[in-house]
This record gives sequence, C-alpha cells and structure tokens, in this order.
Amino acid sequence: MRSGLRYPADMQKITIRRPDDWHLHLRDGAMLRAVLPETTRHFARAIIMPNLVPPVVTARDALAYRERIMAALPEEATFQPLMTLYLTEGTDPADVAAAAASGLVTAVKLYPAGATTNSHGGVRDLAKVMPVLEKMAEIGLPLCTHGEVTTPEVDIFDREAVFIDTVLAPLRRRLPDLRVVMEHITTEEGVAYAAEGGDSLGATITTHHLIINRNHILAGGIRPHYYCLPVAKREKHRLALRRAATSGSPRYFLGTDSAPHVDALKEHACGCAGCFTATNTMSLLAHVFDEEGALDRLEGFASLNGPAFYRLPVNPGTVTLEKHAEPCTWPEKIQAEPGPVTVFQPGFPVHWHVVS
Ligand code: DOR
Ligand code: ZN
Repeated sequence: MRSGLRYPADMQKITIRRPDDWHLHLRDGAMLRAVLPETTRHFARAIIMPNLVPPVVTARDALAYRERIMAALPEEATFQPLMTLYLTEGTDPADVAAAAASGLVTAVKLYPAGATTNSHGGVRDLAKVMPVLEKMAEIGLPLCTHGEVTTPEVDIFDREAVFIDTVLAPLRRRLPDLRVVMEHITTEEGVAYAAEGGDSLGATITTHHLIINRNHILAGGIRPHYYCLPVAKREKHRLALRRAATSGSPRYFLGTDSAPHVDALKEHACGCAGCFTATNTMSLLAHVFDEEGALDRLEGFASLNGPAFYRLPVNPGTVTLEKHAEPCTWPEKIQAEPGPVTVFQPGFPVHWHVVS
C-alpha cells in the first residue's frame, strides 16, 4: 500500500481519460475480426505488433495491414491503429523514414531472432541494422524492443536482465538520441533500468505480469493460458512491476501484449506464448490499482504516460469504472473462426466494472 492517498479507500467509482494499449497483437483475417472488438470497446488507440506471417516489414506492408484492420472495425468504433514495422536485417532506412514522415508508422519493433512468436525473421546481428537505428535516432522514431537475449546458455528467467546489460545499455550508449520502449518488462532489473533512462526511454507493463508470477504457471499443474513471453518471473519481480506501474512515474505505461492463440495451440505439447487480456484489462487494472491504494494513478498509467512518450495528444473521451458488490463476469472464451481463444482469468473475483 502506498501512503498519501488522494482518493478515499472506499472509492467506488473512477472516471479516466480513454485509455490506449501501447502493445497489442491483433493478428489477421478471421482472428483479427474476432479479437478487434475486444480492444475497441475500451481503447482508443493501440500500437499494433507486426509479427504476422509473413511479418509487416515495409511501409507497403504496414499500409495494407492498416487497411485490413480498418475494414475489420466494428461499426461505430472510433479506433486508431498505430502501425509498427518489423525490423529485419534487410530493412531499408529510407523506407522507414518515409513511413514515419507520412505518419503511417509510429514505431519500429526489434525482435531478436527466435525470441518469441514469429520472430525468426528478426535481428541476429545488431550491427546489420545500425543504419536503420541511426536514422530512427535522427528522426525521433521510437524503437520498441522485445528485450530478451536468445542465447541458449542463458536461462529463460535471466534473458531480460542479460538483454539490458549486453544489448540495450550498449545500444543506448552508442545512440543516446534513440527513443526506446522496453516492451513488457517483467523484472526488477527492467524496472530499475527504465527508472534511470530519462525522457528517451519508456517501458510498457502488461496486465497479466501485474497479476501472476511463475508459480501461477507451474505450481500444482502447468497452466498454459498463463504462459507468455517474457515468462512471468518470481514474486519479487511482480511486486516491483506493481510498484512501478502505480508509482506515478511517466516512464511506465500500459501495453497489454494481449496475444490471442487458439486453445488447440495453447493446450499443446509445445504451447504458444501469449495471454489474451484485451477483454478484461481495464477491470483487472482497476482491481490492481485499488489493491495498491493507487486508483488516482490509473489514469496516468493507462491514458496519459503513453501519449506523452509517443508525443501524441491524450484521447478526448473517458471511461468510467464502478466497484460493484457482484463480481465481473467475462466470456470464458472468444469464439474465433479458427477456434476458441481463452480469455485471461485472474483466479480471484474482480469487482470493477467498466460502466461507460
Ligand atoms: O507471449 C507473447 N506472445 N509474447 C510475445 O512476445 C509475442 C506474443 C505473440 O505474438 O503471441
Ligand atoms: Zn507482444
């Protein structure tokens, strides 16, 4: 619990600026159509991850993907997809610069090759993408990083901390003007590095990493719907993430990393990584911030800090949440044409309802 509450502990209602999701997987085709309404219900904008098959590499790819998203929007939805490019060793700096100048793309995504879902086309050798990164530093285009090394000798629970020391810190020393978002941080090392990074550094935190630690995935049976990358860590790291998200620091903002996979691929001998939280994120966040005595800081985390980092206006609308005696209910699954997608279930009752 944080001291110095501005809101009474029994506050039952909160209205905040309409939130954005600064890290979202929408996929494509029938899956896109099934999951998009889950995001547009509450969020005005989202940074759209480019790890499709094949990935969104060029400005032309991003334009086409953006059109497919716009075509899939539910009627009356006012949602703005903020497009990203998937960085490859063949990416052309001029293509990136033109896409940024036209307003088509908001960021470029660095996937170390092999780090996660559909990342095999990502970067093996950072030296090969240095001309792109130099151009991005020059024009102020943010780089979103999947911050994990892929070296097989590095334990999966250490991959984020090792990435910070061996990749991110040297990169930022070399290109101090490069604007970087550490995506989905999961460790106290990530929290600490972001805290010291200055205005050119931001860090997204997912909803699920505020709720689960590695015991939730592994103790008493393996729970594939809690498996994501970066994998949830020890409890002390979850607590560090909670302190960061509720600290009021502008460095941290919401990126759900909501990542749909059909159940057949989650409940599998080699299950896919991803938690699907688009449906219930706002209720879950209100619950977490309420538990931390920080409801007055939910707006900063979900609606203000992200636009400030990305130099975009805050959304004009609002969302209102109310704490009711009866808990929220969500569909257990979203029925997508390729198969059902399980909605993230926190494992405890949540009483914060989004009412408007
Ligand atoms: O859990 C994850 N799922 N982490 C990622 O980095 C990618 C994502 C996906 O695309 O499924
Ligand atoms: Zn992601």
